[in-house]
Amino acid sequence: MKRSLIAGLASVSLSLSLAPVLPVLAVPSQSVTTENGQSTLRPIVNKVDVIAHRGASAYGPEHTFPAYKKAIQMKADYVELDLQMTKDGQLIAMHDESLARTTNAKELYPDRAPWSVKDFTLEEIQRLDAGSWFNKANPNLARKEYAGLKVPTLDEAIQFVKQNGNGKVGLYIETKAPNVYPGMEEKLIDTLKKYNLLNNGHIMLQSFSEESLRKLKTLAPNLPLVQLYSKDMLQGKDVYQEFKRISDYAAGVGPTQSLVVPKLIEAAHQNHLVVHPYTVNKQDDMVALLSLGVDGEFTNNPDQLVELLDKPFISHGVASGDVTDTSAVLWARASGPANVKFEISSDKNFKNKSIVKTGQADAEHDFTVNVNVAGLKADTTYYYRAQAVPGKYTVSGSFKTAPNKNSLKPLTMVWGGDTGGQGEIPPFKSFEAMASLNPDFFLFSGDTIYADNKTPAVPNPPSTTVQDFWAKYKENRTDAGLRTLLQKTGTFSIWDDHEVSNDFSGPSNPLTPTGLRAFENYWPISGERSSADKLYHKYSWGKTMDMMILNNRGYRDPNTKVDGPDKTMLGEEQLKWLEQQLLESDAQVKLVATSVPISIPTGSQNHRDGWANGNNVNPNDPTGYENEFRKISDFIVEKGIKNVYFVTTDVHFADIIQYDANHDGKADYHELVSGPLGAVKVKPGTLDPTFGPKRLYAEGDFFNFGVFRIDPKQNEATVEIRDESGKVHFSNTFQLERVNTNNNHQNQHDNNNQGQHGNNEQH
Ligand code: G3P
Ligand code: CA
Repeated sequence: MKRSLIAGLASVSLSLSLAPVLPVLAVPSQSVTTENGQSTLRPIVNKVDVIAHRGASAYGPEHTFPAYKKAIQMKADYVELDLQMTKDGQLIAMHDESLARTTNAKELYPDRAPWSVKDFTLEEIQRLDAGSWFNKANPNLARKEYAGLKVPTLDEAIQFVKQNGNGKVGLYIETKAPNVYPGMEEKLIDTLKKYNLLNNGHIMLQSFSEESLRKLKTLAPNLPLVQLYSKDMLQGKDVYQEFKRISDYAAGVGPTQSLVVPKLIEAAHQNHLVVHPYTVNKQDDMVALLSLGVDGEFTNNPDQLVELLDKPFISHGVASGDVTDTSAVLWARASGPANVKFEISSDKNFKNKSIVKTGQADAEHDFTVNVNVAGLKADTTYYYRAQAVPGKYTVSGSFKTAPNKNSLKPLTMVWGGDTGGQGEIPPFKSFEAMASLNPDFFLFSGDTIYADNKTPAVPNPPSTTVQDFWAKYKENRTDAGLRTLLQKTGTFSIWDDHEVSNDFSGPSNPLTPTGLRAFENYWPISGERSSADKLYHKYSWGKTMDMMILNNRGYRDPNTKVDGPDKTMLGEEQLKWLEQQLLESDAQVKLVATSVPISIPTGSQNHRDGWANGNNVNPNDPTGYENEFRKISDFIVEKGIKNVYFVTTDVHFADIIQYDANHDGKADYHELVSGPLGAVKVKPGTLDPTFGPKRLYAEGDFFNFGVFRIDPKQNEATVEIRDESGKVHFSNTFQLERVNTNNNHQNQHDNNNQGQHGNNEQH
């Protein structure tokens, strides 16, 4: 798979066969669209280019023959070369305008500060030592032969790379400070002409200066030109307009790596521009950029990128999930066919005996792998690392197992939902803030993708093929914050409608099997949940909390069906199961993870999607699923089940609601709503009054997530709503009612009102 398109970064229907090593030329070789006219988040060339920045400059003195030679030996496609011009008009390979940093000019010419290249003749520069500085700066890499190395001229560099690269390695030449060196472009083109390099596909030219590139375009119209971008240069610009504008002279863009997000890739690829970010020296960053679909990377460490491109690697982070007191599911995705190996240990450095699990990454699962790990100790932090063998690159993660069944331990959980909708695409800021709280786990409450919305991964929605659905998950995994959160903590993922299509009813939608397949491929879902595609299950955090994860999509009657005693969202079996779990639970808190809200009307008139029929909005709306929720609500009230919290997202604003369903002045249960993490933000709407809601807080028009903590000693639960920077907007502590742990029933009569007390802040 030598540097051909990495499987799965491209459409899997593209050939995975080896691309020929030649030609080196990295201009678009094909249309940017796939067969189904979609996805711009993939390379648009037939191979990803390794561009050795100033040579293999991590290993030898930049812009010297040994650095160029190492780059060639390491199998770089291009040697990058910065041009400066001497006082007597000779082009030389040097990055800085001054000779001071990378030569001994200060010692040799002490009175010629600031040692500008333009003030020295070539003959004077050739007397300089361009290697000793490197030995001093890098004692571990120092070599005797570096002392006394010469600054190469452009001619010498061309000859050296041509000879040592057997004509296969290209030169990627930058006009540095062209305003300081009038005539530089003409001299460069004359030199290339002399070596017959204007049309052979081994030269790319780059500059931060548009003027210089336009000049080069006039002088040599066939040479591919790359417009470099620093952060400032794109500040405040519409990237789509900017790239369209430059596409009349440029064949590619060279952004600093932090600028590379899906929008930039889309804008570039739509305009048939390759994307070559600079300067990428760590494998984690190289992989992150490959997963975004870059066409090449500038690097001081070409061997590191070559290794990734030659062998499979873990391409979109790792995750753990559906964690119990003894088990967890580990997830990873490889860049192509591989044997994915997971090592799991309670020791951060894997010095203890590790558990080893493997899974086969294959095209049928888009190279995603889920493995189950059993026999773990309760209440323990585990570390794991994944490797796509025979590749060497590893990605690490950690998770915490639940406390054992009878123990009461504190819990911090974060929850959120709605990513990639209504034009919002990564980066999503909230994930970083969630990760920084070091939660015990993350509940991803649904709409983990928006399969039916336009994003760079699927520019012509809706998603219809499984490749489209997979592309959406991969797009969201390009978010560094999301990868960090998933790697740091266990995740419980639930699906809602946008994993398939807006407001769908599972059984009646033809896309359900495809959406479900992709959802199960891309999340660490346990065998219990995925078996028969149930997706509902109970997870316990010791005796502190039982979490009932619902499947609100898979069993529902169509939203348009008139509500009545037989209309269902959960299906009979799941409803009975939920009631049973609620009844049997002796945990302090019963948390019901639902992907739709109770009394915030969603969907549309005559097509209600959540439980509420919205009779505050339209008294005659016959839809919704209130009959079914009435059963749940009555069950909670009649059985005296205490400390029930429904947790959801879905509505694109935050809302904390207390319910008095039987209107006896006592709170019966609560609903905690957060979101969105990365989708349209709206203002809070009105509540459907059916189940007696009382709003404790509502706020819209901001990205947010929820935090839920339980302090078993104080018998308290605290809910917070935080914005994307982590700032608390709302915090409330609920005094939990005592739970009789000797039998399965709750104290029904001897409690005070369940509700909030003290510490109710709204910011
Ligand atoms: O040419 C790409 C990159 O090299 C631009 O930065 O300063 O290293 O030349 P610089
Ligand atoms: Ca450069």
